[in-house]
Amino acid sequence: MNEDDTIGLEARLPDQEYYRPPPKFVGQANGTDPDIYERFEDFPDGFSEYAELLTWDERWDETFDGSDPPFFEWFVGGSLNASVNCVDRHLEERKNQAALIWEGEGGEARTITYQDLYRQVNEMAAVLREVGVEEDDVVTLHLPMVPALPITMLACARIGAVHSVVFAGFSANALADRLVDADSDVLVSIDGYYRRGEWLDHKAKADEAIDTEETAVETALLWSRHDDLHEGVELTGDDPYVLVDDVLAEKQGAHVEPVARDAEDPLFLMYTSGTTGKPKGCQHRTGGYLAYAAGTSKYVLDIKTTDTYWCAADIGWITGHSYIVYGPLALGTTSVMYEGTPDYPDRSRLWEIAERYDVDIFHTSPTAIRQFMKWGEEHLAGYDFDFRHLTTVGEPIQPEAWQWYYDHVGDEDAVIVDTWWQTETGGHLITNLPALEDMKPGSAGRPCPGIEPALYEDDGTEIEAASGRAGNLVIERPWPGMLQTVYGDDDRFIDEYWRRFSDTDSDDWRDWVYKTGDGAVHGQDGYYRVLGRLDDVMNVSGHRLGTMELESAVAEVEAIAEAAVVAREDRERGHVPDVYVVLRDGVEGSDDVRKQVIASVEDEIGAFARPDRVLFVSALPKTRSGKIMRRVLENISNKEDLGDTTTLRDPSVPDQIREQVQTNG
Ligand code: WTA
Repeated sequence: MNEDDTIGLEARLPDQEYYRPPPKFVGQANGTDPDIYERFEDFPDGFSEYAELLTWDERWDETFDGSDPPFFEWFVGGSLNASVNCVDRHLEERKNQAALIWEGEGGEARTITYQDLYRQVNEMAAVLREVGVEEDDVVTLHLPMVPALPITMLACARIGAVHSVVFAGFSANALADRLVDADSDVLVSIDGYYRRGEWLDHKAKADEAIDTEETAVETALLWSRHDDLHEGVELTGDDPYVLVDDVLAEKQGAHVEPVARDAEDPLFLMYTSGTTGKPKGCQHRTGGYLAYAAGTSKYVLDIKTTDTYWCAADIGWITGHSYIVYGPLALGTTSVMYEGTPDYPDRSRLWEIAERYDVDIFHTSPTAIRQFMKWGEEHLAGYDFDFRHLTTVGEPIQPEAWQWYYDHVGDEDAVIVDTWWQTETGGHLITNLPALEDMKPGSAGRPCPGIEPALYEDDGTEIEAASGRAGNLVIERPWPGMLQTVYGDDDRFIDEYWRRFSDTDSDDWRDWVYKTGDGAVHGQDGYYRVLGRLDDVMNVSGHRLGTMELESAVAEVEAIAEAAVVAREDRERGHVPDVYVVLRDGVEGSDDVRKQVIASVEDEIGAFARPDRVLFVSALPKTRSGKIMRRVLENISNKEDLGDTTTLRDPSVPDQIREQVQTNG
């Protein structure tokens, strides 16, 4: 949906009933005191409660410095190390407790205690030092769901290097773009990994990224995942590769002194899709981010040290950073980490794991739930799992999917929270605290403690609270988990998130309003229901993709003169990309061209971004000034009314397209 014609979305869902959290949940929850909201209203000092959950080398002098908006600072003057907080400080009380229980796709399992994690993080930190990584260097990680990933992240944190994790499903080109943007000359990759029983040669992507002209990788550290079925990699010696195992062998038992990082020193970059051009590197600070991830893990996820917690996301996205690695480990819990897909070797895989490790808290996405629903509840039958707490993230959850999750996964006896947040926000911003609010299917719920959302009209006027009207979701007050900037591009940071609804001339932080890009409704009960993106960003199976990124990938195909990509609603995947294509003169639409389009998207971004349909049309709907009206295409894709088309240069185009879509779609 375009921003110009935003709020066509209105509250469409019928009223939902509420569900009470069961007393046995409430009795044991971390957050049972409703005063928490009040405490955090004491801005900014309320947030120091989260910082108190951490171990600091130097305590902060000032909770918040808003003197140079929107470049806010948190826990000013404090210093700490994230790996100490996630590992070292747990040794005294729980060195033999599992920190991570890793389950390989083929059924191998590895339990990594806090003591093991300490040893491995130190040894890897020594490896990074050995190859010349220094404080503040950006280290790019392109790793699948293997222990090497969190170990390398924490090793970077230990020596004060900034990690930039690129989801393993991203292509070589996408990896290369991120290496270049971050000026990163160290890459950490792996020989390969398994997906549905098949060995994927992951190093091939590293090879290609390194060979890309613009990248300048000096060292590529390569972990090994191969086993008897596959040979290891032979290195020639004259490439930038170093086998991690070779250097690790020399670093057995190494201790690397953790570097005290200023609270404002960056901890990591996470690239995410925006409305324009290339993905942007969201830069997260050490102190505020870690405090916010730990605080929300405690109160929203209700994590305790004695729990077995399982977030079935990939660490390559923000959810895995905050809620597999940093939050849960900072709290000293036991986390399950699963390498594979939910349907391998069969569709009961997750429930079998949940039973085996007696998982207490399970975190997944609406996309996954819709898939479980489609597969049928028979796949859960016979597995003896017992979740206390269930959570979702990534997209709005339809009440039917919520209900299914509640009935079949939660056994009508678990609490569910729907957590709304973004890569940029570092942690949850809108979600109920599980023991304090009633659940309402389809609604994310109330703002987290200390968070001040609001809804604005397109012209920037504020919509009255609890009016039930849809508007642009904004956040009116800073919070510690928020991104610091877009890496290397402060102007873009201001343009993307602040310019639209802020008084950018003001140096009073109260005049600066964070734009989320989402639309939402604030109900009379005070619950927010998030409707989805209002900008040119789409959410495909919970993965965030920019229209522009997709379009520029499609434009690489020789036969194509012009293309536009829009999101079509899909029962299973949430949204899927539809590609509308105008071919060059003399070229015929064919399956071959379709394949080229799909291949180009896989090549530029990754297979997870694959378009659903490639539709050949004779013209795209354009305004008189030549701007493509994607909204019209989106309405065609979703079989909705066309809306206002009076600004179209050629008003007959939508009908032509409809006809062409029917014949070739
Ligand atoms: C969407 C993922 C509705 C939203 C943590 C947001 C949601 C984007 C929810 C961020 C939710 C995330 N309900 N929509 N509970 N959670 N979204 O950066 O559109 O990958 O702006 O962060 O996902 O996606 P991102």
